[in-house]
Amino acid sequence: MKRLMGAALAALCFSLPALAQDAALLARGKHLVEVTGACGNCHTPMGPQGPVAGQTLAGGTVFDEPPFRAVASNITQDPETGIGRWTDAQIARAIREGIRPDGRIIGPPMPIGLYRGLSDRDLAAMVAYLRTVAPVRNAVEASVYRIPLPPAYGPPVTSVPDPADNPVARGAYLANAVAHCMECHTPMVDGRNDFSRIGGGGMEFRGPWGVSVARNITPHANGIGGWTDAEIIRAITTGVSQNGRPLAPPMAFWAYRNMTPQELSDLVSYLRSLPPQP
Ligand code: HEC
Ligand code: HEC
Repeated sequence: MKRLMGAALAALCFSLPALAQDAALLARGKHLVEVTGACGNCHTPMGPQGPVAGQTLAGGTVFDEPPFRAVASNITQDPETGIGRWTDAQIARAIREGIRPDGRIIGPPMPIGLYRGLSDRDLAAMVAYLRTVAPVRNAVEASVYRIPLPPAYGPPVTSVPDPADNPVARGAYLANAVAHCMECHTPMVDGRNDFSRIGGGGMEFRGPWGVSVARNITPHANGIGGWTDAEIIRAITTGVSQNGRPLAPPMAFWAYRNMTPQELSDLVSYLRSLPPQP
């Protein structure tokens, strides 16, 4: 008996670091999905007060644009209407490569082009967290694309390392691969971002708020050139422009407000490093 207990205790001690590691991975995944990645900005139904309670990641939001009528998928663990039956690897491939288990491509506005840059560690964290999301039964209609979708967004992504450990590199990773700031804030030409003018703004968003236009967020006088760090951070986290004007959706201020001080200062370092766009 004593020996058995000893063995159980040893097993317990042995698994403690693993448990702590799992907890850290889950916490990271929750932060990526709910805060920096703001997946809910598209995947959670939005009411006038923001995300609808009890419907987290249940899908159904419609993006009605000339090239498509896309409907955000239910990405809860519901086995029938969500992704509860997908394996971890299948979920990971869908997020980073835009390919579903049955081979069908995931269309815009899901920002797959930028999610291809998600690091292996962050992708695993997202998948671990998605597994814990409460299943919500919500069958959503299929998207309709009037433009041809590519067979793939590029060659298979085998491995992506974490960004280099400096403010600009971390900020670039956050603004592109994770929060896809640059998908909205870079001008569109023929349905594609023109990254030679990264951060230049100009894209229009229609919704119940009317039309909002993504701003120039490069260090030009027309952008954030004359802004203080605190003003940039206030815009990202509270949706207030330099002159005090409230910013319209669809930027996910409601999620970004929980970014860490380090993430926000990394973002500022990155924005200040961009080539100024007129
Ligand atoms: C800008 C809006 C937008 C954002 C942000 C977004 N998605 Fe999506 N996502 C969509 C749309 C729209 C679809 C459905 C596209 C289609 O029908 O081809 C989709 C599809 C998916 C699918 C496929 C589900 C299925 O059943 O086929 C997964 C998985 C997914 N998204 C996960 C995520 C995760 C995780 C995040 C955050 C890291 C995220 N998405 C961020 C719009 C978005
Ligand atoms: C879904 C699209 C979208 C995403 C993603 C997005 N933004 Fe925005 N952003 C906008 C729009 C649209 C506006 C302008 C709203 C208005 O003028 O009312 C804006 C405004 C801003 C402003 C204020 C500029 C000004 O002149 O007032 C800053 C700064 C900003 N965004 C930075 C960011 C950063 C950093 C990220 C990523 C963490 C980000 N945005 C993600 C669409 C987006």
